[in-house]
Amino acid sequence: MEKYISVKDLEEAAIALLPQNARDYYKSGATEEFTLKENKVAFQRLRIRPKCLVGVLNYNLRTKVLGQDVSMPVGIAPTAMQRMAHPEGELANARAAEAMGTIYTLSTIATSSIEEVAAAAPKVTKWFQLYIYNDREVTRNLVLRAEKAGFKAIVLTVDTPLFGIRRADIRNKFTLPEHLRLANFDGYLSTKIHSTSEGSGLNEYVNSLFDKSLTWGDIQWLKSITKLPIVVKGILRSDDAVKAIEAGGSAILVSNHGARQLDGVPPTIEVLPEIVEAVKNYNVEVYFDGGVTTGTDVFKAIALGAKMVFVGRPALWGLAVSGQAGVMKMLNIFRTELEYTLQIAGTPSIKDITKDMVRHESEYYKLVSKI
Ligand code: FNR
Ligand code: LAC
Repeated sequence: MEKYISVKDLEEAAIALLPQNARDYYKSGATEEFTLKENKVAFQRLRIRPKCLVGVLNYNLRTKVLGQDVSMPVGIAPTAMQRMAHPEGELANARAAEAMGTIYTLSTIATSSIEEVAAAAPKVTKWFQLYIYNDREVTRNLVLRAEKAGFKAIVLTVDTPLFGIRRADIRNKFTLPEHLRLANFDGYLSTKIHSTSEGSGLNEYVNSLFDKSLTWGDIQWLKSITKLPIVVKGILRSDDAVKAIEAGGSAILVSNHGARQLDGVPPTIEVLPEIVEAVKNYNVEVYFDGGVTTGTDVFKAIALGAKMVFVGRPALWGLAVSGQAGVMKMLNIFRTELEYTLQIAGTPSIKDITKDMVRHESEYYKLVSKI
């Protein structure tokens, strides 16, 4: 494991190891993948403004998310079908989050079930990501099972009436390998994804089964079946953030779905300030994902108002490289990079990372151009 110094190292190793079908599915973004690149590049346009001589002997990465303690502000975003990366898939990923004291989010379309994950990692703070199926009984069942298994929040993904166009998946005629199944379901719902008539089998699955008629009013239905807090994932506009809270959401996760839905949407770090501003008069937390690969990325998102940052692909890369140990390595890289950043930037605790700690490069250009 020592040879992996950065998340990028893990990514390169995983890309070399994974079979084409899984590799392309994990790494792809929508159509031209412009936003996929921007998700990362946009971080580089933000500059950190360190404070000197503040005394950083007692630095600390701990924070609280929805009332739960976490050891660091980096958690695991929901990503589908993790057993394509490693035989222990979701179980290894959840155990890594447990060992590192952070949050694990299980996808609806996982290759390990709600109950299997709960048994494998009983102490981890688990959240369940929900896709709402046409069949509301099926959906209700998922929510009740998650609640019973000790999951602490429902992460309702609201950016997916259907899945985006991912060209490699169409070319590969992506399907889930035969030996795996969508473990939260029985029968047809667990195996339909093994076949495709043309193009991506995942898109066919979603097109036929997800509820495209959803509106904000349906959050009321979700609230009527569960007491768990609802984290609304996939918000990219301030008016939607307000609608999500007024509909009963407890928190907002600013996300463009890893740039997999609609190409041309803004990189998430550029959206974050708008959302934080929009909900400042409500008592809600704002979380962030998209393109985070370094400790300084995490720092910048926190400075712009994120309470917690989630990573999707980095966990898949760690998983592919070495299962639980690989995901722990990935989280440890973030931990180390954040520890350095906190000390050198002069912000020994998470609450010290205020907005003035970052400035957009264009502000510096304005100053320089006056010379
Ligand atoms: C995802 N994402 C996702 N989101 C969700 O709500 N449910 C899901 O099942 C999935 N599945 C999924 C699979 C794969 C392969 C990827 C890459 C992403 C989106 C995910 O939760 C998150 O928003 C992004 O992955 C964050 O961007 P990064 O960290 O991958 O850059
Ligand atoms: C994806 C789904 C599963 O992005 O959310 O592939």
